[in-house]
Amino acid sequence: MKLLVTGGAGFVGATVTRLLLDAGHEVVVLDDLSRNDAAQVPADATFVQARVQEVGDVLTPDAGFDGVLHFAGLISAGESMTHPELHWEANTRAGLNLLDAMRTAGVKRLIFSSTAACYGEPSELPLTERAITMPINTYGATKLAVDLAIASEARAHKLAAVSLRYFNVAGALVREDGGMIGERHDPETHLIPIALEVAAGKREKLPMFGDDYPTPDGTCIRDYIHVADLAEAHLLALTAAVPGEHKIYNLGSGTGFSNAQVIDAVRTVTGHPVPVEWLPRRPGDPASLYASSALAQADLGWTPTRTSLEAIVADAWAFYQGR
Ligand code: UFG
Repeated sequence: MKLLVTGGAGFVGATVTRLLLDAGHEVVVLDDLSRNDAAQVPADATFVQARVQEVGDVLTPDAGFDGVLHFAGLISAGESMTHPELHWEANTRAGLNLLDAMRTAGVKRLIFSSTAACYGEPSELPLTERAITMPINTYGATKLAVDLAIASEARAHKLAAVSLRYFNVAGALVREDGGMIGERHDPETHLIPIALEVAAGKREKLPMFGDDYPTPDGTCIRDYIHVADLAEAHLLALTAAVPGEHKIYNLGSGTGFSNAQVIDAVRTVTGHPVPVEWLPRRPGDPASLYASSALAQADLGWTPTRTSLEAIVADAWAFYQGR
């Protein structure tokens, strides 16, 4: 297939681009490089530096695209509470713009990076796709709005669409030839890469947001999914998309680890101390999130295999040291 990947310079987008190219697809990456450089865009993809708001210049009726994988967007839940307008613009307005451009160009297949943040404070654990969607941060709200728009688009205009609701994506794509694709956001806001920076001596302390959550050790619980497992689900979703249907799948490992357990894993893997500075809760953080991915496993035939927290942290550490 000829595929457009928005956000293909980012951690997940670049990893999926690598797998798509390896599977024989032709890929055009569109990224505005506002939060990344182009260093991780695979060299055998065509790269266009542009905002999603300008996607119509690339996604023309004559360009012959078979589908779009839409990764571009802002991902920091913390930032979405302090700068919500940035998230409504980059996630929702851009997402609606993409749907318009796809309709105009007659491109009928979409895989969308949705998020566990759509569920807010979970109505059930593990979270299934039937759980109530009531986001408690703006990030989740901006992504849920696009999910709802995609559902209408599929119904009315026969789009074949799959939303993949990611839990906490981590690790790195470590390839046999030594090539690696990993997480390097600017600014970095995610727990594991920040903890690695502390372990490497690049930061003094890990700011730990909250010790009074209703969890066994008082820190938040999250479900870490290895980026290579997550990426494989996108290739399966591409072939599972059906015209007129919007399918939604949760993608997680199914196990929750507390923030304190993550820091312990970083200490073990790196062999370095990770001093912690205890701070108040970060606004918009649910106490506990972990997935049931039973539906993705049944429908897509997807099975996450890299589920050990230490193995996930080890790949992230290998990338951190090699970058
Ligand atoms: N945390 C800290 N200190 C930090 C960074 C994070 O204590 O310096 C804590 C957070 O408060 C939270 C946990 O570590 O309790 C995980 O936070 P992240 O920022 O790493 O990730 P989030 O869970 O907020 O969000 C991530 C992705 C979203 C996705 C969500 C789904 O950024 O895109 O996982 O669970 F939707």
